[in-house]
Amino acid sequence: MSKDWEIEGFLTSVDNELRIDGVSAPELALEFGTPLFVFSERRIARNIDRLKGTFADGGPALKICYASKANSNLSILQAVLKAGADVEVNSGGELFKALHAGFSPDQIIFNGTSKDEREIEEAVRAGIYSIQADSFAEIELTERVALEAGIPANVSLRLVPEIRTDTLHGLQTALVTSKFGMMPDEAVSAFERWSDPEGPVRLKGIHIHLGSQNPSPDPYARALEALYREARAIFEKTGMKVSHLNIGGGFPVNYLRDRSHAGMISADQASLFGSEFDAGEALRSAWEKVREIATDEGFGELLEEIEIVTEPGRSIVADAGICLTTVRNLKSRRVERGTDEWLLTDAGFNILLSMETYKWYYHIVAASRAADPHETPYRLAGPLCDGGDVYFDIEGRDRLPDHRLLPEEMRAGDLLALLNCGAYSIAQMFPYNGRALPAVVLIEKDGNVKLARKRDEYEDLLRNEL
Ligand SMILES: Cc1ncc(COP(=O)(O)O)c(C=O)c1O
Repeated sequence: MSKDWEIEGFLTSVDNELRIDGVSAPELALEFGTPLFVFSERRIARNIDRLKGTFADGGPALKICYASKANSNLSILQAVLKAGADVEVNSGGELFKALHAGFSPDQIIFNGTSKDEREIEEAVRAGIYSIQADSFAEIELTERVALEAGIPANVSLRLVPEIRTDTLHGLQTALVTSKFGMMPDEAVSAFERWSDPEGPVRLKGIHIHLGSQNPSPDPYARALEALYREARAIFEKTGMKVSHLNIGGGFPVNYLRDRSHAGMISADQASLFGSEFDAGEALRSAWEKVREIATDEGFGELLEEIEIVTEPGRSIVADAGICLTTVRNLKSRRVERGTDEWLLTDAGFNILLSMETYKWYYHIVAASRAADPHETPYRLAGPLCDGGDVYFDIEGRDRLPDHRLLPEEMRAGDLLALLNCGAYSIAQMFPYNGRALPAVVLIEKDGNVKLARKRDEYEDLLRNEL
């Protein structure tokens, strides 16, 4: 047995075969079929641990609420819970799953722009940490529900203070023109109106979520400063101290070039989110700056007992998830500049939606020839009936490489591993073209392989159809 290469003890090539947390990828594919999502509990715990250490040397209490929209599979939620994080939900369904996974109500925060009465009632009755109100109307609805239930509701307010980041337009969420949240002055008015500490609505905190894939730390500093200024305005107007500042999620994952995988990544794959993003460092420096401002302005006491909440999703699960797919078909096609060698896999955009919508690049390793040189260019495509179901940018805008580099002489039946696939993949999958949804396995910390989702059968395609 010889080890060819290793990445952070997580991925290894042993005798030319990819192992994930020590488990053979080809054997997993054989046992569970492909496409198959493989998750690492260790990697999830590692990602949470790194963030948990943010204020280890002093600073505010940090509440990490994993954004379950990134992946709400029950086993993943339980891995997050075991790793010591709390959870963010975005619907009654996610609230149901979080409670089912074992999170206690005080570990749950509930975001969303269009909560209905039933969802709010479920959150109020459960007694969750905070309902993140998106508008005045929603606070009023929550008040009515809380009065009817005879149970006070913990509420925090989501704000859109017009902070732009360098992410894609569709991923921005702190702009006045976005569909989210309330204006900062509305939030002050809300604290004036719902100021009774014994009333049905207990206003607790304020919240900004900048968006997803924010490539630089600076907007986090601006967001935390905006939250502090809001907390100060609320205090000056009402004498109320907010108990937490929620800085949201959005820490980026490097879909184009991950330095930890540098040995296997060719230099011509330019990076969109190239820098290694240290979320802990971003939060620490934002905190230091804001604490200084608050102290200078004579409002340091506002931050003395404050809790910082954060809602990372992607950065917790993306690199913990790998998609295994089999080459089902191949062809050679002569084109103007030579010959295109095509490989057609069984993983399409119905299970990797962001590859199509945002053109995320998932690096690929040939799992059964992991140590062979990956130098031969292939056109790669999925199984769906759309011409756009390809692993390159069909529009020719160079947002993905035209070819993937893999070992020479790829054959039908070869297994490929797509890295960094753990976020917003199985959470968004759909059975388009009658394709049964894939199985999901979790490699637990002790190396045990747990089936976290069974593969759909044809009968599942008929479920709910009358
Ligand atoms: C309110 C809120 N918080 C947190 C997140 C998680 O973002 P990410 O997965 O980029 O960390 C999202 C994502 O859409 C969100 O809408």
